[in-house]
Amino acid sequence: ARLAILLSGRGSNMVALVNAVQTGVLQGLAEVAVVFSNKPDAPGLATAAAMGCPTASLNSQGRKRAEFDAEVVEVLQAYQPDYVVLAGYMRILSPTFIRAFVGRILNIHPADTHQHQGLHAYEWAFENQLPETKITVHLVDEGLDTGPILAQQPVSLRGADTLAEVERRGLAVEHFLYAHTLAQLIQEKPLTHPEAGASVAPVA
Ligand code: GRF
Repeated sequence: ARLAILLSGRGSNMVALVNAVQTGVLQGLAEVAVVFSNKPDAPGLATAAAMGCPTASLNSQGRKRAEFDAEVVEVLQAYQPDYVVLAGYMRILSPTFIRAFVGRILNIHPADTHQHQGLHAYEWAFENQLPETKITVHLVDEGLDTGPILAQQPVSLRGADTLAEVERRGLAVEHFLYAHTLAQLIQEKPLTHPEAGASVAPVA
């Protein structure tokens, strides 16, 4: 399967996915068609290039969402992705974008998307002193973090007394779960959450 990985920042999930494609659980299952950013100077874009991935970008600053997304769709379609994998892509996708890749757009969120949507999920977990957060991989629909859940994995936050520690624990699970969920999806094994309309099987 061909992956288009979209990011706006650091790109640690992108790195984990590229590693999984090159030497891990996605080896032989997936290839990175392109790493795309709406921020041409995103650190993750340079990292992707250094890892040997094709890269592309379009600056979203000051652009109208629908217009910008139509251009992004055109750019991505040139790379013929099977899946569009959001990895810290800080844009809400317009209906035009969703429809172009419907059912094939994935996102990862640092919390249970039934409990928390949008930005700052680790801050939310930390400030509310939650005993755990549930890393969630879900399909993207037209809402904000509302699409069907594909996989979830809890992370214990007990004893995590700084935000940095909360993020460190969470990101380690994000990096594992995203690649494994994609591998499972690509192999067309049963999806892991009833919302996705398939039987329940643990991801890990
Ligand atoms: C991750 O925490 C992800 O769950 C959220 O945005 C962050 C991106 O981090 N959607 P990175 O750029 O992959 O390091």
